[in-house]
Amino acid sequence: MSKIHAAITGVGGYVPDDVLTNADLEKMVDTNDEWITTRTGIKERRILKDPSKATSDMGVEAVNQLLQKTNTQASDIELLICATVTGDMVFPDTANTILDKVGAKNAFGFDINAACSGFLYALTTAAKFIESGMYKKVIVVGADKMSSIVDYEDRATCIIFGDGAGAVMLEPTDEESGIMDSLLKADGAGREFLHMKAGGSLKPPSAETVANKEHYVYQEGKSVFKAAVNGMVSTTNQVLERNNLEIDDISWLVPHQANMRIINSVGDMLGIPAEKVMVNIHKYGNTTAATIPLCLSEYEPQLKKGDYLILTAFGGGFTWGSILIKWSY
Ligand code: UT7
Repeated sequence: MSKIHAAITGVGGYVPDDVLTNADLEKMVDTNDEWITTRTGIKERRILKDPSKATSDMGVEAVNQLLQKTNTQASDIELLICATVTGDMVFPDTANTILDKVGAKNAFGFDINAACSGFLYALTTAAKFIESGMYKKVIVVGADKMSSIVDYEDRATCIIFGDGAGAVMLEPTDEESGIMDSLLKADGAGREFLHMKAGGSLKPPSAETVANKEHYVYQEGKSVFKAAVNGMVSTTNQVLERNNLEIDDISWLVPHQANMRIINSVGDMLGIPAEKVMVNIHKYGNTTAATIPLCLSEYEPQLKKGDYLILTAFGGGFTWGSILIKWSY
């Protein structure tokens, strides 16, 4: 009997309408368009401004688009995994909120917290539920409302992040395609360089934590930068090697969109031409768990059945990894 593979059979993406440009940020903090553009490649990002809307609402938009594109009834979904660090609430999880809002009554869900690598962790987990034969329709969402945890008085972080969501459908196939391999890594010692100081059980919210601005993203950018480049290159090379592939066999590199300089360094070190690297950081900034599915959603019309894709990310934890996909449609 041939092995069941988990094939991506559709992609959906959503970004809010409101645009925060570099010119807008120049009025908020001591920065300028030239610095942001040359250091990060970001020109603008999207912000979910409606105070009544949360991460799940962006996830719902992406999932509804996905259901429509794949001609799937909400009642047919069996499992939804949501990668996010900005869940609507500390608990319950956001996956089940999304399922409720899209009317998926026959499914269960759970969240995965692996920061910018969250989509890779969630996709790998979801693939196992398909490969085992347990489920036939699984949705993976990557969604983050980063504007809810960014300090718009801190120029080191507020220029980077944006809001957005993406979703993919996974279904079984007996063809040699889909999620072909995955290598995930973590180093918890990296938590000191990228985290939120308060709000968890270590430091519950208090008037003091709010006054000290401890509910925002804290990042030591340079340390993260170096580890990110090395991490993504290393797992990508390992995945290529153990699948007997050369970089020339890869049609698309889909890197987490954290910084254009990181994307360029990773591309150069791997030896992949820039035209094979998916990029939308200039428009959306770093949307954490959403960057990779948002790239897939934008580039979907250019993808061809049989194309090899490498998805790679690095983020808080530290967490990182690479996934090899053979595109299925
Ligand atoms: O997605 C999750 C993982 N995260 C990442 O992968 C992010 C990795 N890190 C980065 O992308 C970069 O480190 C940053 C974009 C965050 C920062 O770029 P950098 O080239 O590492 O700059 P830096 O922090 O070393 O700062 C260089 C200078 C400093 O001034 P001095 O000390 O040289 O006088 C900063 O104060 O640039 C200054 N600076 C700014 N200037 C204008 C920092 N932020 C800004 C700003 N505008 N927004």
